[in-house]
Amino acid sequence: MNAADSTLLSRYGGNLPRYTSYPTAAQFSDAVGPADSRAWLSTLPATQPLSLYLHVPFCDTLCRFCGCNTAVLRNADARAAYGALLLEELRRVVAILGPGHSISHLQWGGGTPTTLPVGTMRRVMQAIRQNFTITADAEISIEVDPRHLPPAYPALLHELGFNRASMGVQDLDPDVQEACGRIQGWDQTRDCLDALRAAGVASVNIDLIYGLPRQDVAGVARTARAVASLRPDRLAVFGYAHVPWKQKRQALMPTGQLPGPAERVAQRAAIDGVLRAEGFVPVGLDHYADPDDSMARAMTTGTLHRNFQGYTVDAATALIGIGASAISALPGGMTQNAVSSAAYARLMAQDTDSLPVVRGVALDGDDRLRAAIIEQVMCTLRVDVAQVLARHGLPASSLDPELGRLQGMARDGLVQVTGHQIRITEKGRPFVRHVAAIFDRYLGADSATRHASAL
Ligand SMILES: C[S@@+](CC[C@H](N)C(=O)[O-])C[C@H]1O[C@@H](n2cnc3c(N)ncnc32)[C@H](O)[C@@H]1O
Ligand code: SF4
Repeated sequence: MNAADSTLLSRYGGNLPRYTSYPTAAQFSDAVGPADSRAWLSTLPATQPLSLYLHVPFCDTLCRFCGCNTAVLRNADARAAYGALLLEELRRVVAILGPGHSISHLQWGGGTPTTLPVGTMRRVMQAIRQNFTITADAEISIEVDPRHLPPAYPALLHELGFNRASMGVQDLDPDVQEACGRIQGWDQTRDCLDALRAAGVASVNIDLIYGLPRQDVAGVARTARAVASLRPDRLAVFGYAHVPWKQKRQALMPTGQLPGPAERVAQRAAIDGVLRAEGFVPVGLDHYADPDDSMARAMTTGTLHRNFQGYTVDAATALIGIGASAISALPGGMTQNAVSSAAYARLMAQDTDSLPVVRGVALDGDDRLRAAIIEQVMCTLRVDVAQVLARHGLPASSLDPELGRLQGMARDGLVQVTGHQIRITEKGRPFVRHVAAIFDRYLGADSATRHASAL
């Protein structure tokens, strides 16, 4: 790293949101509850397809780095009981929505949704198909853990119509795996991908992480090369988000061995170099796709979107989240369900019709305007601010103070600002969250204790 790069790091260090939504979840409060959720859901028109997300907060073992809402639950009956709650929440949501709705995007995440017994997964998928029309080109996806995929699952996923799966790898180095408490052999990764493809699950994503303890540039490049040889359709390359104040299990990580900001940037660059050389197209901040994959195509047509699950080709204007901690993003606002599975079950039992929502945020016109700009920045790395303002009925000069605050980044070669047009340069790609943050009206002095490292 040269001297110029280190001054960049000192200027753009600190912590920032990942901008999977705007306003971010840090803005959620209990001023929004089940009644708001009901009101927002009841006005969704049946003419516009919906996106549905189901959260399963269980894993077979826990990884120390993991920031997700998940716990170990070994008892199969308890897992099936959670599935029954998903069915019941779905019933309540459908009762509010009314008949005739369709789904263009269906995603199961967690945790590890394949911890649900086969019969439970089948029942929930059947209920979804009975209550919604799934569009012919819908993406139906699920997160799987290569170390614990039950043998019956690949065929089940194909039978139930899943056409995408996403699997965690993170890093192949045994020392790194030992530090993270996630031991995963190469053959487990390869066999899982082969089993999914052989069963007919057409498209597979692999997750990698940099910035973990004991990782170095040569090691992450080796992992990226090995994983690229499997030719996944997509890859997500996350910077390790260390937030032990939010996620207690991360305190078990050997924090003395965490790479610093300069090393993190170098690791990111090494993975980026390998994946581009292997023919993958960079997508937004942290994704890569095979040039024939729909995500790569969405990049070029400007139809890429961002939601709580990250980058997506899903264009639905309403995302409904079902399950513990699941977030819904509706035109009226965003809501989140009770986070722990115990609190979620308690709320579901309290009232036979109410939704298990505990917090959220209502959107105003300014939120929608800034959300549109931030989504475009995060997805296509360019935005015509005047055009977005015009769509919202506002004069082109309305955000000139924000544009003025980009001058420093322009001098550093991270963005080009021409009139009201912003273009993030290739050098600026790792700093895209800093550009988004300029338009975040809520970002405050507490961001160090709310968000993870921005680089
Ligand atoms: C639900 S898991 C993936 C599926 C499955 N449970 C597994 O681990 O194979 C989602 C992904 O989030 C990423 N992730 C979890 N915690 C993270 C953290 N603290 N920082 C960055 N990425 C994280 C990992 O890459 C992980 O694969
Ligand atoms: S990374 Fe996956 S398997 Fe590990 S704890 Fe998180 S959700 Fe569970």
